[in-house]
Amino acid sequence: MSSSKIYAVDDIETTLLKSNPPSLLIICLGRVTTSGWSNGELSQYVYLTPPADGIQEFDFTATRPVAGSIVLPVLRPIRAEAVLDGIDLANYWGPGLPLRGVRVFAVSNSKTVSFDATSKMHNLATGQGVAAGPSRTMDAMPAPSFETDIKPLFRKKDINAMKAVAGWRLDVYEDVKANIEGIGGEIRAGSMPCDGPWPQSDIDLFDKWIKGGMQA
Ligand code: HEM
Repeated sequence: MSSSKIYAVDDIETTLLKSNPPSLLIICLGRVTTSGWSNGELSQYVYLTPPADGIQEFDFTATRPVAGSIVLPVLRPIRAEAVLDGIDLANYWGPGLPLRGVRVFAVSNSKTVSFDATSKMHNLATGQGVAAGPSRTMDAMPAPSFETDIKPLFRKKDINAMKAVAGWRLDVYEDVKANIEGIGGEIRAGSMPCDGPWPQSDIDLFDKWIKGGMQA
């Protein structure tokens, strides 16, 4: 399997996760030019000296379709995420050198999210302003639970198909938890369910459930 940069990056969303020290969740959406790509990933640049603009860069890569496989020449969405674990935003690059943004590169373009002087992330990074503290958005929303939020996303046909094909049940918490890497991977890549990918909002909810510790 070979990993390559994807065609284009469309959107970057950053969320500070409520933890101590906080972690920064980066979710990125992009496009590939054929079917068959999988495992979208953000590979983080490592710098010998901190970049002058204070922006952390990533390449958006994914696994190419297997050589010789039949692929459709269509633009397809792909998603990747990265977590900067336990970071100190205000001193990310060293004492007094805050993280000022995130940039993601694809083959045809790049996108940058700047934590500029007006953004909440800037206030968090510099320790200034009323918004300093854990991320509000994550605070306001209780972690999703399997019974209320996740199980209803699976249709009868999904449950039946995967019970027949794989022997585990998408409507059983322990089964989903035990196969979470595969299931998450398929859903994000849009290769499962086989009759069409989930809407992005459902994929986001599923990921939020994982990040929230997979509550029952
Ligand atoms: C580890 C994760 C998964 C693996 C390895 C997997 C693999 C497979 C395989 C090999 C098939 C039979 C061949 C095919 O029709 O493509 C299949 C069928 C199916 N899977 Fe999955 N699957 C996974 C997760 C899921 C999830 C999360 C859903 C729903 C959200 C899902 C929904 C379906 C459906 C609806 C079918 C029947 C397709 C049809 O015959 O129309 N699968 N899966």
